[in-house]
Amino acid sequence: MSTSNKHPISFETTAELQQAVALASANVIREAVNERGIANVSLSGGSTPRRIYQLLAEEDLPWDQIHWFWGDERNVTSDSDQSNERMVRETLLRHQHTPESHIHPVTVDVDQPAIGAQAYEKILRGHFLGHDTPEWDLILLGLGDDAHTASLFPGTKALQEKERWFVENWVEQMNTFRYTLTAPAINSGRNIWFLVAGEGKREALGNVWSEQYAPTEYPSQLISPTAWYITRDAKP
Ligand code: 6PG
Repeated sequence: MSTSNKHPISFETTAELQQAVALASANVIREAVNERGIANVSLSGGSTPRRIYQLLAEEDLPWDQIHWFWGDERNVTSDSDQSNERMVRETLLRHQHTPESHIHPVTVDVDQPAIGAQAYEKILRGHFLGHDTPEWDLILLGLGDDAHTASLFPGTKALQEKERWFVENWVEQMNTFRYTLTAPAINSGRNIWFLVAGEGKREALGNVWSEQYAPTEYPSQLISPTAWYITRDAKP
């Protein structure tokens, strides 16, 4: 189990967590660009990050040196209100700062999710050419109340994937396909942050942090984060 859970960064409110994560994300991005001339960021879907992305959009960032990717996506087109791509474009990327060539949404293929996932894996491997895993400067992750992260849901096939970076994932409990980075492709990040807000996450967080290692049931245990950003009411 990740040692970072012994030192979560706690906040009284979700708003304070979101403010802190936006500022910390901006710092990591600026550092990456200063050191390597580029920042590669993988974004989470869900509701917690929305405000973070709105705040990050207001930061003074080297926008034309940042590449934005998605850690997971729903099997919907980008005009759907369920689309993580749509959510990020409406919150973070609404400015014209970012060249379209630096925005890498998941190549959703609603009728053939396997084809869509293969296409995105090709994009990732092309961008990180010569690397064994994606070199994220920052990857943001949410925690579901069932202890999933990205679209690595309990009991699903993607949890077993050790070679592929990005896969389609049939989620029986939701009767739908999802798209997701695999655990190895998440764990290669320099900064891997879980964002956990609200008492509804307390039980899941307790299970993920427990000494009982059961990643099929608690998929977030597959991840070795570098930081946990949590609200006090989410703390087990
Ligand atoms: C998604 C996310 C998912 C999310 C968690 C937590 O596509 O929904 O990637 O993994 O991060 O479900 O979501 P909340 O932030 O809404 O609690």
